Amino acid sequence: MYYGQQAKYFIIRQINRNITEEMTAKGIFFFKKKEKTGQAGINQRNVRKIQMLEQDIERVLFSEEELDRRVNELAEQINRDYEGKEITLISVLRGSFVFMADLTRKIKGHCTVDFMSVSSYGKGTISSGQVQITKDLSDEIENRHVIVVEDILDSGNTLGYLLKVLAQRHPASIRLCTLLDKPDRRVKPITADYCGFTIPDAFVVGYGLDYAERYRNLPYIGILKPEVYTKS
Ligand code: IMP
Ligand code: MG
Repeated sequence: MYYGQQAKYFIIRQINRNITEEMTAKGIFFFKKKEKTGQAGINQRNVRKIQMLEQDIERVLFSEEELDRRVNELAEQINRDYEGKEITLISVLRGSFVFMADLTRKIKGHCTVDFMSVSSYGKGTISSGQVQITKDLSDEIENRHVIVVEDILDSGNTLGYLLKVLAQRHPASIRLCTLLDKPDRRVKPITADYCGFTIPDAFVVGYGLDYAERYRNLPYIGILKPEVYTKS
């Protein structure tokens, strides 16, 4: 290749890159033919998807910074209460996985983690009231100090059932830590020992919480636009 040709390709590549960056910044969808390096193409598509996700959010309820601050406070409280004791954190999948990961990393003493999966919602926004264990714990909890980590306490159906089932396994103690609490919708008389935020009766997503399995990847918690779930 001649020097002149090389320079021409370099300039064209640079122009393409500038256009791509500008369009991505403005949120304009940009198709590239076949991406040679692969990486840049993937990043542009991700930016677009995040923007589409955010269009479904009515307003942000808790920012990343607010969540981080509150999770820190909860962990400090737990660290104080359980000083000298080893705890088992049980994450109720799937909604609590992000909260669980952040909280666990702030626990100072020895602790173990386990996961449980229950379903009561299906694809809707209202609990069906019928709770089913779809994945049980991997380990026994007898004589362990258990903290159940939940994303949101709503009707209380899920936790009412779950806490009863876990108590029958004779843990040394059992407490509930929920990031969010929607007391207005409570059907079962459940109260959390540790609660991040009390929120009004709105359907929220992000930071692990979903609607029809989507929006879990938003780094903040936002109220979902009602038209998203009334549309279908
Ligand atoms: P409950 O049995 O009605 O208390 O519901 C608890 C479960 O419902 C939570 O663990 C969530 O997975 C889900 N849920 C309740 N409210 C919301 C919400 O506003 N957004 C997303 N999921 C929710
Ligand atoms: Mg859910």
